[in-house]
Amino acid sequence: MRESKVKILGTGSSVPERVITNFDLEKMVDTSDEWITTRTGIKQRRIAGEGESTSTFALLAAQRALQAAQVSPEELDLIVVATVTPDMLFPATSCLLQRELKASKAASCDLEAGCTGFVYALSLAEKYLRGGGGEKALVVGAETLSKILDWQDRSTCVLFGDGAGAAVLGLSEEEGILATYLGSDGGGAHLLELPAGCSRMPASLDTVNNRLHYIKMNGNEVFKFAVKIMEEASLEVIKRGNVEIDEVSLFIPHQANIRIINSAAKRLSIPEEKVFVNVHKYGNTSSASIPLALDEACREGKIKRGDLVLLVGFGAGLTWGSALIRW
Ligand code: UT7
Repeated sequence: MRESKVKILGTGSSVPERVITNFDLEKMVDTSDEWITTRTGIKQRRIAGEGESTSTFALLAAQRALQAAQVSPEELDLIVVATVTPDMLFPATSCLLQRELKASKAASCDLEAGCTGFVYALSLAEKYLRGGGGEKALVVGAETLSKILDWQDRSTCVLFGDGAGAAVLGLSEEEGILATYLGSDGGGAHLLELPAGCSRMPASLDTVNNRLHYIKMNGNEVFKFAVKIMEEASLEVIKRGNVEIDEVSLFIPHQANIRIINSAAKRLSIPEEKVFVNVHKYGNTSSASIPLALDEACREGKIKRGDLVLLVGFGAGLTWGSALIRW
């Protein structure tokens, strides 16, 4: 009989070297460090260099996670890359990663659930292992959002950044992933989208001239949704995991905006010292945000064995998801 408990065996992350500060952006669009800092908490972001793509950072994050987990690529049964900025529409970025890692027995696919992508991928990979699909899985959240930003649109270009985070999951004797919760509401699909380049609006001179290959967002509506859903998704996974919110040792929310993070933490009565924040360093890195934060928290010694970690995210779709992890 196979063991049906799953835990995170190791994490890793990677960000581009190039830093773009709010002061750099002041020279590009009509904005200010003061506006960006007070409205979002972001001070700088990392931006991919020439020749770098999503798989560049996915690969480094994956290698670091495998090393931390002491798992070799040949042991992987599944690779899932969550991204809204794949290297290409197809083949999947996960297949490019599989090739580079030489993970010869792994099945590979990409998953698109906006900024909730990593939590979705974590939950689905966990169920895959529990269901008998294999023993080890690699889950990656990786983005190069700089490539789909309109650098003339101050309402979006100041918010996002590039990077990747990864986690290796494995069957274990201890329960690691206590509960997950996923949800979606396509009624809000229009609030955050990239209109052109696929079957509905194939690339043409018009789509390029009208700047339709870039992120379009109704920031205010997404903000309102985010604050509400972060609380709901957190409470639901806490209930599913049969624990109390004050047992949570570290809260790792999607890093989109410090105001969203603070109001979610306040609604949940989670004290500031239990909230992990790195949005000031990286901006919103979409599906990379939670695994990047998780890896930093691990490497900074903020998560100890036995700790209860709560991950919660929201994003385009609209989607949301949460995961409760015993470290
Ligand atoms: O991962 C999921 C993805 N998205 C999010 O999480 C985003 C959620 N939304 C937000 O974080 C916030 O809504 C924003 C940060 C996007 C915007 O903050 P806000 O407090 O909701 O500002 P606003 O959109 O209401 O804009 C206020 C003003 C506007 O000027 P007027 O119309 O009041 O004169 C904007 O034109 O700020 C202006 N503005 C800017 N000013 C300077 C918008 N962007 C900028 C900018 N610099 N970069």
